[in-house]
Formats: sequence, C-alpha cells, structure tokens
Amino acid sequence: MTEASEIDALDLPTHEVIIEAVRVAGLAPSLHNSQPWRWVRSNAALHLFGVPQRRLACADPTGREYRISLGVALDHLRMALDAAGWSAAITVLPDPSQPDHIARVQMARRQVVSPSADRRVRAITERFSHRLPMDAPVDFDEFTAALSELTDTGPVAFSQVQVSHLAAVAEASRLNDLERSSDWRYHSELSWWTGTTVSSVEGVPATSLLTDNEYDALLVGRSFPRVIRAGAPATEDDAAQILVLDTTGDEPADHIACGVALSAILVEAQMRGLATCVVSDVTELPASRAMLCAAGGDPHRVGRFPQVLVRVGTARGEVVLPRSNRRPVDDIYDEDLDMQLGQLFAAPVPLWPLLRGV
Ligand SMILES: Cc1cc2nc3c(=O)[nH]c(=O)nc-3n(C[C@H](O)[C@H](O)[C@H](O)COP(=O)(O)O)c2cc1C
Repeated sequence: MTEASEIDALDLPTHEVIIEAVRVAGLAPSLHNSQPWRWVRSNAALHLFGVPQRRLACADPTGREYRISLGVALDHLRMALDAAGWSAAITVLPDPSQPDHIARVQMARRQVVSPSADRRVRAITERFSHRLPMDAPVDFDEFTAALSELTDTGPVAFSQVQVSHLAAVAEASRLNDLERSSDWRYHSELSWWTGTTVSSVEGVPATSLLTDNEYDALLVGRSFPRVIRAGAPATEDDAAQILVLDTTGDEPADHIACGVALSAILVEAQMRGLATCVVSDVTELPASRAMLCAAGGDPHRVGRFPQVLVRVGTARGEVVLPRSNRRPVDDIYDEDLDMQLGQLFAAPVPLWPLLRGV
C-alpha cells in the first residue's frame, strides 16, 4: 500500500472520479444484499463507515459478515481508484473509539496504472452471485495459483475442500439447516431480505432464488425460500469446487481483511470466466463452523477461523437469473468536510424489525 507521506494533498481526484469509484464499490456483494456501507469524503480522504442498522441481527449477530461485506466494498473502491489513475493508502479501523469507521482512504495520483486495472473494474460490474448448480471450473489449478499470489499475505488464507472432505462439509451444511429449522426470527429476517422484487434496490430478488430441484443438486448453499420457475430443467449435481476462506484471528480487522481477500478472489474468478457464489450460513452457528474447521482436513488449518465458503465453477447457461440491484450513489455517499461523526448514520434504515415485531 502507498505510504501516506507520498500523498500530495493538493492533487485530488475530481468529484466525478470519486462518484464513479463509489458506484463501483457499491456493486460489492454483501450478506443478503444489505449493502451496509456509507462513504464520506473529507478533503483528501474518503472514509468508509458501516451502517449498523443494515447489519443482519439474526444471521450475523456479531457483525462478522457485515465487516466482511465492508471489506469487499473497500477493495472494490481501491480497484476503481486504481483504474482511474489514483492509488489508495488505506488505514483500517482508524479510530478505535468508532468501530463502524471501517477505513480511511487517502488518494494520490499514480504515475503508472496497473495494466489489468480496467479489466478488474469490468469484472466487478459483470460479477453476480451464481446460486445455481454449476459445471466444474475450467483451469482451476491456474486459478488457485493466481489466488495464492493475490491473497497469501496477512491473516487470510484460502484452501480448496478436497474430495475426501466434501461429505463432511455437506453434513455441516445440513446440520446448520436443521438447527435453524425452528428459528422463526432467522427465517423472518431471511424472508424479509429475499422477498424483494427485481426493481428493489436492496435484498435478494425472488427471481434470483432456486427451485427445490436446483437446491437439492447443491452440496452447500443457504436454504433461501424456494421458488417455482416455469420450464426449470431437471438438474444435475453441482460440480463446483469449494474454497474455504479462513483467518488466523476472529477480530474486526480479520473480518475486513477477509472481505478484501474475497474481493480479490471473486474478481479474479470473473476475469477468468468462472462463476462464483459466496456461501456463509455454514459459518454462522458454532456447531457447523466447528465442523468446517475439522472438515478442511488440512492440519495447517487447525485453530484458524472459517469465515466464508466460495463455490467456483462454470455456469451451465440453462437458466440466467437476473442480477440484483444496488442502492443509488446518493444514498451511500456524502461530502462532509467537518466529519460530523455523530450524524453519519442518518441513512435509510430497513423497517423490517419494526414491522415484524422482532
Ligand atoms: C459476507 C457474505 C455472505 C454471503 N452469504 C451468502 C450465502 O450464504 N448464500 C448466497 O447465496 N449468497 C451469499 N452472499 C452473496 C449475497 O447474497 C450477494 O452478494 C448479494 O445478494 C448481492 O448479489 P450479487 O452478488 O449477485 O451482486 C454473501 C455475500 C457476502 C459478502
């Protein structure tokens, strides 16, 4: 990362550059498309804040996945700035007394733009969660070799679930579903976030959900409400590979770092024409998360914290599900030269807890 001392505070990106970078960052995946972010520009820096009202209280009571989602958005912003000719000096959690102040990003003009920068931004705009069963990924070894270069520093590592351990991962997933079968608060939250229409700017549209047949073909996958789709074909078993992202610790900085690594993985996959889907329900309850630790089967992974799984494969192309929408830039961006921290969370707040009485 760039040293802050390299930054010439007088040479700043234009408003248009910032707005475009924030728009691209807003395309990041987030748990249930909750988009828990807010960007504030203050002179030479952009600040990323989490919007705690957008945290999923039942699926994600500790805010772990909220911070992973914010980490993805942070890395997407870095890539967008890079493509526009700006480097980003990032300080994560700059103010210990403000846990929702996720990062300060100071920008400096780049002398050289990385050659793949435009392709990365294109990949961000084209990526979407591919929940359907997939064919096996093409050139998977080359892909994982590239990932090792991208993610092999810091607290985050990824591993591929070996064939011998797939059954154990599937078992953890089923146990998770079973444990949650009578948790009406979790299901109420899930229905609220997945009952949206295609035109909604948040949540997972019903049109992006699976039929019973499609879901049954998966080894792992969150048990969203099912849909009936006219003409849905009989479905062969999913042949996607499964990656586990884990971290050395389980602190807020580890979660943000996991989001940054997740961004790198999803974008690299998209650039190689691979389809991806993040799967996290199996990391949300202690029992299934513990089973995942064991199911990795790699002694070097013992004692690490599984954060999310990623299915990676080749899209079958039988059915193309519509992409989910995003909140407009106006909702996620503010100019605030005085940094009135107390006023930052005036973002529109989902009404579901009030409406549902949970
Ligand atoms: C931390 C995190 C956890 C997620 N968990 C799941 C999951 O368990 N199942 C799933 O189908 N998608 C999951 N997703 C994907 C989101 O649902 C998806 O990114 C969001 O709905 C936006 O849609 P898009 O990725 O198609 O743009 C997760 C994403 C993130 C960042």
